Amino acid sequence: MKEKLLNILRDFRQEIDSANSLEEVETIRVAYQGKKGHLKTILKDMGKLSKEDKPVIGKLANELRDEIDATISQKVKEIKQLNMKQKMESEYIDITLPGKRQKFGAIHPTSKIIKRLIDIFYRMGFELTDGPEIESVYNNFDALNAPKSHPSRDKSDTFYFDEETILRTHTSPIQIRTMKRLKPPIRTISIGRCFRNDEFDSTHSPMFYQMEGLVVAEGVTMANLKSTLDTFARELFGEGTNTVFRPHNFPFTEPSAEVDVTCFKCKGEGCKFCSHTGYIEILGCGMIHPNVLEECGIDSEKYTGFAFGMGIDRITMMKYEIEDIRRLYENDVKFLEQFRR
Ligand code: PHE
Repeated sequence: MKEKLLNILRDFRQEIDSANSLEEVETIRVAYQGKKGHLKTILKDMGKLSKEDKPVIGKLANELRDEIDATISQKVKEIKQLNMKQKMESEYIDITLPGKRQKFGAIHPTSKIIKRLIDIFYRMGFELTDGPEIESVYNNFDALNAPKSHPSRDKSDTFYFDEETILRTHTSPIQIRTMKRLKPPIRTISIGRCFRNDEFDSTHSPMFYQMEGLVVAEGVTMANLKSTLDTFARELFGEGTNTVFRPHNFPFTEPSAEVDVTCFKCKGEGCKFCSHTGYIEILGCGMIHPNVLEECGIDSEKYTGFAFGMGIDRITMMKYEIEDIRRLYENDVKFLEQFRR
């Protein structure tokens, strides 16, 4: 029996030595220490032993059990340590390595100018209003006093969905919406995309941005229009900027004018940017036509008003000396990165 016990111990040592997972150790533990394990099976025969042998074998069996217990818990400890070590090695991060560089974005130059325009007009007391890009022919042309024969209505110039629906060709339909919605005094600006069937070239884009200004109140005159636009031009292009009002014709304003400002580049000397005139055209404006006021339910005997509309892309190009409008729509990161500041 003593021999059997020693054999068990030897077998156990061998098996536990080659075990290398917690599952294997558990299998061994059950095989030796479990209810039906080797040790229990042998000790069943204890009763058959002589009086002298019993305590000796009993002692040996106890020692054996203790050793097996101790060996198993030692082994479990080792395997757990080893597992932890392997895990740490496989998940090792070198915190001294430089990280992946994040690329900084930049605000698009057009967005910068839009922010600037809003800022300037807010400080003059204008509120922001909006309108949809898909407009009715009525809001875009009819209500703005455009005769049925006006060339801009042509299917080759304007994107039509059907006879009554188009992509707006300017921000002026927002004037109509605003005048129908609000009662004078009105002082608003509106900014948004407009669409015309133009070929993409260095100065034209089929989609572009405009800003519209609208003021309606009692006693508004052309002098108010001029002072508003003068103030605006100086705020945006700097002190010393002059404006020139040239007579023009828009169906929705009377009188109408186009406004030029001192060339930002040569300050009026004449250069290639201003075609050697010293001035650059930036907007259209005028006193709102009485027909337009009446169409919107505003008494044209009591109220007068002015409106102006400008191409934001044009202004962006002037401010940042961008020579080709297409740059504004290509999303070329190399180009846009220049506008970090
Ligand atoms: N809507 C005109 C255009 O697109 C600009 C404009 C707006 C002119 C308001 C006068 C008054 O050219």
